[in-house]
Amino acid sequence: MRYGYFDDEKREYVITRPDTPLPWINYLGKENYFALISNTAGGYSFYKDARLRRLTRYRYNDVPSDSNGRYIYIRDETSGRFWSPTWQPVRLYLDEFKCRHGLGYTTILSSKFDIKTQIRYFVPPGEDLEIWDLSLTNARPDTAHLHVFSAIEFALWNALEDATNFQRNLSIGEVEIEENFILHKTEYRERRDHFAYFACSGVIVGYDTQRGSFLGRDRGWENPIAVEEGASRNSFAQGWAPIGSLQASIHLEPNKTERLIVVLGYQQNPRDQKFDPPESQNVNKNLVKPTIENYLRPSTVDLAFDELCKEWDRSLQIFQVETPDEHTNRMVNTWNQYQCMVNFNLSRSASYFESGISRGIGFRDSNQDLLGVIHMIPERARERILDLAATQLEDGGAFHQYQPLTKQGNVEIGTNFNDDPLWLVLAASAYLKETRDWDVLDELVPFENIVGSEGPLYMHLQRSIDYTLERLGPHGLPLIGRADWNDCLNLNTFSTEPDESFQTAGITDGKVAESVFIAGLFILAAEEMVQIASIRGRGQEAKEYREAAQRMEAAVLKHGWDGEWFLRAYDHFGKKVGSHSCQEGQIFIEPQGVCIMAGIGLEKGSAQRALDSVGKRLATEHGILLHQPAYTSYQTRLGEITSYPPGYKENAGVFCHTNPWIMIAEALLGNGDRAMDYYLRINPSAREHLSEVHRCEPYVYAQMIAGRDAPTFGEAKNSWLTGTAAWNYVAITQWILGIRPTYQGLCISPVLPNDWPGFSVKRKFQGVTYHIEATRIRPGNEVRLRVEGDLLPGVIVPFPPQGTSDVNVEVTLL
Ligand code: GLC
Ligand code: GLC
Repeated sequence: MRYGYFDDEKREYVITRPDTPLPWINYLGKENYFALISNTAGGYSFYKDARLRRLTRYRYNDVPSDSNGRYIYIRDETSGRFWSPTWQPVRLYLDEFKCRHGLGYTTILSSKFDIKTQIRYFVPPGEDLEIWDLSLTNARPDTAHLHVFSAIEFALWNALEDATNFQRNLSIGEVEIEENFILHKTEYRERRDHFAYFACSGVIVGYDTQRGSFLGRDRGWENPIAVEEGASRNSFAQGWAPIGSLQASIHLEPNKTERLIVVLGYQQNPRDQKFDPPESQNVNKNLVKPTIENYLRPSTVDLAFDELCKEWDRSLQIFQVETPDEHTNRMVNTWNQYQCMVNFNLSRSASYFESGISRGIGFRDSNQDLLGVIHMIPERARERILDLAATQLEDGGAFHQYQPLTKQGNVEIGTNFNDDPLWLVLAASAYLKETRDWDVLDELVPFENIVGSEGPLYMHLQRSIDYTLERLGPHGLPLIGRADWNDCLNLNTFSTEPDESFQTAGITDGKVAESVFIAGLFILAAEEMVQIASIRGRGQEAKEYREAAQRMEAAVLKHGWDGEWFLRAYDHFGKKVGSHSCQEGQIFIEPQGVCIMAGIGLEKGSAQRALDSVGKRLATEHGILLHQPAYTSYQTRLGEITSYPPGYKENAGVFCHTNPWIMIAEALLGNGDRAMDYYLRINPSAREHLSEVHRCEPYVYAQMIAGRDAPTFGEAKNSWLTGTAAWNYVAITQWILGIRPTYQGLCISPVLPNDWPGFSVKRKFQGVTYHIEATRIRPGNEVRLRVEGDLLPGVIVPFPPQGTSDVNVEVTLL
């Protein structure tokens, strides 16, 4: 069953009813100001940091669900009836309803009592504000007399304090009221220089800033007393719960359309110009007023929207594909790239499953997210790589997370997730291949953000490698630390107390528990360092990295192979994890993916054996499971992984992030059919027809799909913010379609399903547009390249002479 459809031409997903299985959301903003918005206008907004600069309030896990948002009430002054054109929060049945989620905007269209409404929500490029662009059309025979109430609830900035510290909160709220805007200035009197504003165009006849006055006693957002009676209270908030609500009056002739524009924004004043007059406590509004006036004008709004669409168009033009499969086309051309950008911006901080409070920017997460966006935003990728490197410790280890606003490592979660540093090498090398910006390696970057500790980025990468080499266990495999990629495989924690963190409790300095996953990852990273060092003329270092990779490979073959697949780990007692000899958790997906990607066992058949085992034991119709059999009871020696009920999350769920590793491995072995098959099992568009089972958005990947041990097998959770986005993008574009940047040029080496007749791709790479036409002559993966008609040896199109703008490549597959 479907709840909408893809409008591929407009690059929108059109939701045709408000009651999707879960709120289906979108994101607005891609620089500093961000907003989450659901198909019924739920969600919240923040500036840069979802924890420290929350503009509006949102109650997670609330009932009814998703009932805080950016709301409009329309009241018919003749009948007294009122409704929400976005369905929430009034939830009065609408005669027509459509929500169009597009790239950086959401438009909700509806009709009730013959009043048609369209609201387009977006963040203008470069601005710290959001627009609600509302059009009302009267389809009645007579003039409609309407009042439009807008409403938001302000958060008192720090979202954690806002949700917990009520003895203070309920006394600190402060606002100012101007003619057509409300200003939220809680804590501005002291250390904050920023405030929020809420403005509306049109004829304003009333306002409210105190939630209790607007809603009335014992009422919720579904029937505020002010709306019911058609009369704002003109309340002035001091303490309690400041809100913004403006009441506009409209007289709409038959068949006429009117536009109202609402602006919610964030403004920071220079410290020495906070107040006006300077000795007062009044916010200086001189700097913000021109922005407000400007954006209340429809012409400005139209221009900004146009610019937003153009920006996306430019970004997406860098890689466009046409294949015989519509799910591939739509994900690669639009939605997967879009999701990659959202992940880049927000890491794992704010979604409908991540509260914006507990996690900032994850070190391993963001390094992987980079793999999906470097081609679109190389400058921002560069900055992110340097920011991440700056949270590295001198010993090469890294803070597991940092806050985006302060860029300081998060002390509570700390360090010693032993895979972390290696991801930096993968991100940096992907950046170098895309840009050949070799200067970045000389960029001076501090350790732990300590001034004076700077070393070149290249040194950071070296320390990443050393970090692993200095932490090898009894089998010569990398020690796991608190956890590797799988945050829940906690082999050194032994947690028995309910309130402690699985990751940070217990001994962190385990000298026995080893990870085969990190071993594979290490080889991948070390091989990248071999290439970087050689190109930079550091032959000796290249040789050392190569030898280190070879030693690691030998250790994996000797101690990390279980007979039919790669082992997962050795625990604190030196016992195997992920072996046929275990009772539960006999085979894990992660080492199969990463060890084969690292090239282990490709020639001697063990890679193929491992993939066959994955196919037999882990693959399901809803994706590939993390491990099998699921753990049925809690085991302190394994940690959080055994805490989940079987089939969920890390306990044998389909943890989608890992699936593309298997697709890549299949492609490496030349199995295009299998790679594509796995790709389509979790491709959200290919699962659209299962929406009542899958339940999350059909246009983005979710972190997890419940595994076959769960009663809700096939149900997705934790949509949007997941490494799944970047890795699927890499798997389909670089390994199945086979188009990947290298230091020598653009590699084109597809491994396709046998029944694909071919595909075409347009790829912009270092200022040149490659027009690639692939045609299959017969089944197989042999590739023949013709560049501008000339046959080329190998699979890499070398860089063309300076000044070339377009290159035509014919690819023949046989
Ligand atoms: C979450 C984390 C990620 C981790 C994964 C597996 O998605 O954000 O860092 O690798 O879970 O535990
Ligand atoms: C765990 C989650 C995992 C996540 C980790 C982050 O509870 O299962 O996915 O990576 O927390 O701390």
